[in-house]
Amino acid sequence: MPELFIVGKGAVGLLLAQRLANTHQVTLITRTPTDAVFFRTAQCCQQLPVKCLTWEALAQQQITISQCIVPVKSYQLAEAFITLRPHLSEDANVILSHNGMQTLTPITDALSEHQGLFFLSTSMGGWKPNSTTVEFTGPGQSVFGPCNLIAQQRAQVLFNQLIDPALPNAHLAYDIALLRWQKLCVNLAINPLSALTGLKNGRLRAPCYATQVLSVLNEACNVANHIGVPLKLSEELARAYQVMTLTAENFSSMAQDVANHRRTEINAMCGYIVELAQQLGVPAPHNTLLLNQVQSLHPTNK
Ligand SMILES: NC(=O)c1ccc[n+]([C@@H]2O[C@H](COP(=O)([O-])OP(=O)(O)OC[C@H]3O[C@@H](n4cnc5c(N)ncnc54)[C@H](OP(=O)(O)O)[C@@H]3O)[C@@H](O)[C@H]2O)c1
Repeated sequence: MPELFIVGKGAVGLLLAQRLANTHQVTLITRTPTDAVFFRTAQCCQQLPVKCLTWEALAQQQITISQCIVPVKSYQLAEAFITLRPHLSEDANVILSHNGMQTLTPITDALSEHQGLFFLSTSMGGWKPNSTTVEFTGPGQSVFGPCNLIAQQRAQVLFNQLIDPALPNAHLAYDIALLRWQKLCVNLAINPLSALTGLKNGRLRAPCYATQVLSVLNEACNVANHIGVPLKLSEELARAYQVMTLTAENFSSMAQDVANHRRTEINAMCGYIVELAQQLGVPAPHNTLLLNQVQSLHPTNK
């Protein structure tokens, strides 16, 4: 079976491991030694047939990685990639997966022209009752696409071999950057407001939040248009309200992070818009306000 490495033993990483272990020899690369990881359902708790190695063990065994998924939080990506890079084979494929956006230039620049970079955007849900166990909470949708030139040539084959058999409702998109911007807009409309108010997604449809939702998305579309991403405000508004309706009874991931006193991914959402707006010299006061408000909720958000 082909080898597949996954960075971490997070909720998404364990869900992917559970689905890919049938077709791949899966190794999780963990920060701390881990004996076993588990997938729990209402009926049973099953040990996953995967290997767990620390970065130190990986280096000692001089293992070379040709396929790796990096499903870490947006603020963990830079460090994870720096640690991963020396282990990659000359023609490795690296698949990033997280919420929010950040410039991928440092990563694309660090990869050679033979190393493929891909992005997997997913709303498949997982919840961890403890540090080594995951529970599946919902299939969601997944989009997979290439982020550099060589990845464009390999995307269809990798999608057919790795993503499609493992993930429900997955599709391949060569315009993954546009789809990530659209998902970012949904996150911008829902996550900060739900985190600050503690409300379920559906309650954000109330008229009292409409001006804020409109303003935040207007700034995001303006910034996107300045860098050539063809977002339309009317479409992003419609998408955001549709997701609020479809997930009306859910608390957003950021609302859950705040409720559990965890660091949020606000810097990869409003922070990304504010940073781009500053570079472009265009205003983004509403994203700045939400960024500051959410940052002030947790000391590590800054
Ligand atoms: N959970 C969901 O249902 C869900 C759904 C869709 C999208 N997402 C998005 O997917 C991303 C991952 O979410 P998640 O819920 O899976 O997060 P998570 O449970 O916090 O998992 C992240 C994992 O990555 C590990 N990690 C980070 N840096 C590492 C490094 N340098 N070396 C080794 N391991 C490292 C973490 O280890 P430590 O524990 O040691 O920090 C943790 O096990 C986020 O952007 C999230 O918003 C999540």
